[in-house]
Amino acid sequence: MPDITDFDVSQKFTGVVKRSDRITPDDQDEVRQISLEINHRNWVYEDARNIGVFARAPKEFGSPILFRLYSIAGVTGLENDKKTRLEICVKRCFYIDEVNGEKYPGVVSNHLCDLKPGDTVNLAGPFGVAFRVPEDNTANLIMIGQGTGIAPFRPFIAKLYQDFGEWNGKVLLFHGARTGMELLYMNDEKKDLENYYDKKTFEAIKVISARPHFDEPAPLDSALEQKKQELWQLLQAPNTYVYVAGLRKTQDQINSAFVNIAGSIEKWSLCKADLVADKRWDEILY
Ligand code: FDA
Repeated sequence: MPDITDFDVSQKFTGVVKRSDRITPDDQDEVRQISLEINHRNWVYEDARNIGVFARAPKEFGSPILFRLYSIAGVTGLENDKKTRLEICVKRCFYIDEVNGEKYPGVVSNHLCDLKPGDTVNLAGPFGVAFRVPEDNTANLIMIGQGTGIAPFRPFIAKLYQDFGEWNGKVLLFHGARTGMELLYMNDEKKDLENYYDKKTFEAIKVISARPHFDEPAPLDSALEQKKQELWQLLQAPNTYVYVAGLRKTQDQINSAFVNIAGSIEKWSLCKADLVADKRWDEILY
């Protein structure tokens, strides 16, 4: 959980909700795509990674104002236009009180998911630099996103094909959810990622939790391991980039998959160290 004191929130501004659409069906966990219009002349949207959102906490909370980060899932707006529209993809979160076992709504995600068009929200940021598209369009890109971790890949993939038309390197997206219907941007109601399916080098691999383990994160590890040979071959290339986004608890799963793909902890540690040193490994974990 980021601490507000870690961020420069002196430049606060307001966002007006233009749209709020549920992108998961009613019988699944609620995730909404929220479109906010911001009136901030100096906002550098090109490279933005996260936006900070403030919400007032109920009285019993220590801090009266809570602050949370959300990954930017899309930005539109002309450079000289004072108004920018940004999209975020928010999961309505709940947490279980460890002492009494009761379920409480998460403050900021519920505040955001309850907003209606015309409502305003207090913002700060942007914070962090977005996933960078390499300049060389023969680079191989391996993207791994779990749940709302798909959000930063939307503008990233759109940028690939908008700026380059074609991408000649391999583009592999592993995106996971607990159920097929929950696959954000790629379920029966929303087919956003399908826009890229005709691209020669693009391949999206959907990963869904096995039924008895509905509450567990999707088995990204077995999906990665199924592509063992291809991934290991790609990882040997000096122009392969890896991007990971989503819940921190999937980190171990992804790491152990790569250990199996590499064949040993040592081999994977060396490979990852190279990727990190060359700035070819980037992650957004929360
Ligand atoms: P509160 O903080 O009270 O906790 C609610 C519970 O939900 C906790 O148990 C937490 O572990 C769990 N939880 C938090 N985020 C979750 C998620 N996405 N899916 C499942 N469980 C989750 N969230 C989001 O919805 N979309 C996003 O794009 C991002 N991006 C992002 C980027 C970065 C860098 C960080 C550090 C965090 C995010 N988050 C996110 C998470 C977001 O900042 C925030 O933590 C959640 O919305 C929960 O905040 P609340 O105040 O609602 O609940």
